[in-house]
Amino acid sequence: MIYLDNAATTQMKPPQVVEAVVKALTSMGNASRGAHEEALQASRMVYNTRDMLAKLFGCKRTDHVAFTCNSTEALNIAISGILNRGDHVITTHMEHNSVLRPLYRHQTENEGSLSFVRCDEFGSPLYEEFETLIRPDTRAIVCTHASNLTGNVVDLERVGKIAHAHGLLLIVDASQTAGVVPIDMEKMNIDILCFTGHKGLMAPQGTGGLCLREGIELRPFKVGGSGVQSYCKTQPSEYPTRLEAGTLNGHGIAGLHAALQFINTTGIDTIARHEHALMDRFYQAVKEIPGVTVYGDFRLPVRTAVVTLNVRDYDSAAVADALVQDYGIATRAGAHCAPLMHESLGTTEQGAVRFSFAWFNTEADVDAAIAAVREIAE
Ligand code: ALA
Repeated sequence: MIYLDNAATTQMKPPQVVEAVVKALTSMGNASRGAHEEALQASRMVYNTRDMLAKLFGCKRTDHVAFTCNSTEALNIAISGILNRGDHVITTHMEHNSVLRPLYRHQTENEGSLSFVRCDEFGSPLYEEFETLIRPDTRAIVCTHASNLTGNVVDLERVGKIAHAHGLLLIVDASQTAGVVPIDMEKMNIDILCFTGHKGLMAPQGTGGLCLREGIELRPFKVGGSGVQSYCKTQPSEYPTRLEAGTLNGHGIAGLHAALQFINTTGIDTIARHEHALMDRFYQAVKEIPGVTVYGDFRLPVRTAVVTLNVRDYDSAAVADALVQDYGIATRAGAHCAPLMHESLGTTEQGAVRFSFAWFNTEADVDAAIAAVREIAE
């Protein structure tokens, strides 16, 4: 099997990640729940992981990194915890349902209103619209860092400047970029960064979190056991406990810790260069194949390693089935939980086939995928 569905989840993890999870499964106590060595070791590991994440994302305070089980949970916490009744929010056509559905819920259950920044023909946002959509009741901009469909990366520094110039909060979905594109919350004016562990960070599924700028007051989404202030009837207000009711996914976080060590040692730039080279090799070849339509903006200096295409008018699911059954190549077809992006690109009926590359892919994987697309197109 050649695995080219890394935008859904990276299948290959560094061996250190596997070892760390196995070790944790057989030795780990419960972080912040006890004073014996097993619990203390878990607490130290969790703290160190928070600290590494804070450094990776330019979050000033380690205690403002809270763990969740994925980006969707982080985005639900952020959106439901920060918006007030009637708030207006600006978002984009690039968003995944992990952003859209919490926002639609804000609209229907919280008398909220939404405005959408449209995209150009290549699927990049029309940046000038961020400013023109601002109203007196606008509270926040919620924006992805990169489209999971096209791989287009958003210039967050530009969006962040607009947000802060108008006193708006910037909430970012970094699902597709954490671990593969540099993120600096300070430089980009990000107030809440939501990320997942199982994609570019190469950690286990069930890990992720959110990083908060100092001064952000977020209402907790869930309340419960915290290991501290047990006689208090309300959730402790201090971060990160405020957002972390219940036992953490310590075993997964141990894997995330090892993954972060791997990324720091290898270098995010080295990883990005490798992935970009594979993506470019694939793109340069498939764009020349008659009958192949490629989506996305390949003029961008920074993109994620995604190439999404269609072959003639073939249904994308049929192409993905042929790829896996006849060539052993795993991709993702259909709608990718990105309905507005597909509408923008005119691919709602056909869907599209997404090839996404990661650190453990090779040029041989790419060449096999090129040959397969060529044969299918012929
Ligand atoms: N959000 C993931 C994807 O884009 C699952 O495939």
